[in-house]
Amino acid sequence: MTEKETILITGGAGFIGSHVVRRFVKSEKYIIVNLDKLTYAGNLENLRDIEDNPNYKFVKGDICDFAFIKELFSKYDFKGVIHLAAESHVDRSISNPMEFIQTNVVGTVGLLNAAKDSWANIGDRRFYHVSTDEVYGSLGETGFFTETTPYDPQSPYSASKASSDHFVRAYGNTYGLPFVISNCSNNYGPNHFPEKLIPLMIHNIKNGKPLPVYGKGENVRDWLYVEDHARAIELIFEKGKNGDTYNIGGFNEWKNIDLVHLLCDVMDDKLGNSQGTSRKLITYVKDRAGHDLRYAIDATKLQQELGWEPSLQFKEGLEKTIDWYLANEKWLQDVTSGDYLKYYDEHYANR
Ligand code: NAD
Ligand code: DAU
Repeated sequence: MTEKETILITGGAGFIGSHVVRRFVKSEKYIIVNLDKLTYAGNLENLRDIEDNPNYKFVKGDICDFAFIKELFSKYDFKGVIHLAAESHVDRSISNPMEFIQTNVVGTVGLLNAAKDSWANIGDRRFYHVSTDEVYGSLGETGFFTETTPYDPQSPYSASKASSDHFVRAYGNTYGLPFVISNCSNNYGPNHFPEKLIPLMIHNIKNGKPLPVYGKGENVRDWLYVEDHARAIELIFEKGKNGDTYNIGGFNEWKNIDLVHLLCDVMDDKLGNSQGTSRKLITYVKDRAGHDLRYAIDATKLQQELGWEPSLQFKEGLEKTIDWYLANEKWLQDVTSGDYLKYYDEHYANR
């Protein structure tokens, strides 16, 4: 039997990271070390079902703590890193850009340094950087982002992610660090913090609260179910070409207002309301500063080279997502009240 490789996943307690960690742990092919600071967006309840799995280890820590990261790399012989830890919310980046530079840029460079310095036989390792389509800027009414679209980030969040992408490529070019990058469109699904559009709307509809639509609601996003993203990450990590970039998207564009209408109608059905009840909660509010008009990913390369396709129809994915939020009221309460850290204290502090 071949020995299982040990992989470091950063940000594994967050939204996308939790689905990636679960997928890799359940594959039985790897030992997964999940490094997460447990900011407001990281919740170990997301990984309750695998916390006792022998292929899984959680480490609480900050990617910006370089001494700690160095120690971690000497403790484990990581064959690869899948880097998801980040500050991820555009609105927060507008009110507090420095935190985004610190985690997304400085933290990423710290990890790159640790990998470069620790990996004796650098050739058979891989640093996988998980990034966003927002690095490409904003599209007009037509066209798609491809892997060769020039970078043109427009918000402090996307500028910090673009900068981290550049550092990853620079480490590949300068030090020969084997890397791969993916840039994905908007994800949705379980474990999504209710500050982002879809979970916020579900939460507010359920509680009869106003549904804040920025500007005229005409901005367009391309939505992908989070488990389809996790499946793409596994495929790219295992089969992607070193030094390459892969775009990941849902081929699924929605104007925000149309999406909010759909959510209202599906929720009315599920809550037993008469149709039209939830739409009355829609409130147009001041637009996000510098709000990107449209994102749309051309994921042809991933489709053709690695055979990936989104597996879920949007309506089906939304139903699954809504059902999950309706069944997980305690999760919502914990993350919105800050009580999620109790879970760490009760389940992990003495491990
Ligand atoms: P998230 O905010 O839900 O989770 C981020 C995780 O990183 C949290 O668990 C948090 O505790 C952890 N973290 C933050 N700062 C840290 C630090 N200094 N040290 C260690 N851990 C830290 O984010 P997400 O939506 O799951 O996004 C994950 C990654 O995917 C990010 O890099 C993001 O840019 C990228 N991405 C997200 C989307 C999306 O639609 N959500 C789309 C494309 C790419
Ligand atoms: O495209 C990938 C990106 O998608 C990721 O890199 C980011 O981490 C992720 O947060 C997401 O960014 P967005 O800014 O597109 O997501 P958000 O859910 O914040 O907003 C989606 C759209 O909905 C956007 O046009 C702004 C609008 N919006 C958002 C909120 C929170 C509203 O109209 N009202 C709201 O209350």
